[in-house]
Amino acid sequence: EKIQKFQTDFLNWYEKERRDLPWRENQDPYRIWVSEIMLQQTQVVTVIPYFYRFMEWFETIADLAEAPEDKLLKAWEGLGYYSRVRNMQVAAQQMMTDFDGQMPQTVEEISSLKGIGPYTAGAIASIAFDLPEPAIDGNVMRVFSRLFELEADIAKPSSRKVFDYVVRQVMPHHDPSSFNQGIMDLGSGICTPNSPNCYECPLQEYCQSFAKGTMLNYPVKSKK
Ligand code: ADE
Repeated sequence: EKIQKFQTDFLNWYEKERRDLPWRENQDPYRIWVSEIMLQQTQVVTVIPYFYRFMEWFETIADLAEAPEDKLLKAWEGLGYYSRVRNMQVAAQQMMTDFDGQMPQTVEEISSLKGIGPYTAGAIASIAFDLPEPAIDGNVMRVFSRLFELEADIAKPSSRKVFDYVVRQVMPHHDPSSFNQGIMDLGSGICTPNSPNCYECPLQEYCQSFAKGTMLNYPVKSKK
């Protein structure tokens, strides 16, 4: 029915328009993890060269776990927020001791790793392991609040469960990886904060705020 057509339309769009990115070459959970941590406070174009170099310097989770501090910090120089890479090394050490040197394959275990919150755990679980887990960040909240005119205030932590619920309702279980990555591309390239390109949007016909012209009222965000 309608949800199925929504999913098919969207996955077809993603297949055709997906951005070619180095961490999309395969589903290696280590590469997905590193990319998601780098992308947390940094733009895609900036991340790309750092990503390649990081993968050369620390080829495996074991290499990262054992890396000397000076090399670790050098790899991050210019990205800022050094706690991100320090936490990654602790998480790599956790994987060595608790998970046989591998990224664990449940969202609960992934969430138990240092520096991995709900967004990153959902991104790794869905992109690397094809698990139907939402990966909710600001882009995803903007896309979904516009699609369904959701009034949940994104400044409130309690709104997260609203988005989690709605994303789960529409996410296709046969390809959650492409679905989540497609929503990321949509949020960064089309469903942008101040001037969304609705005429290029693959979800225009499903978008409640487009129908009413209320796109710029979403997401709702209270001042703190
Ligand atoms: N932003 C956060 N994660 C991303 C991903 N996997 N691809 C593109 N942009 C992203």
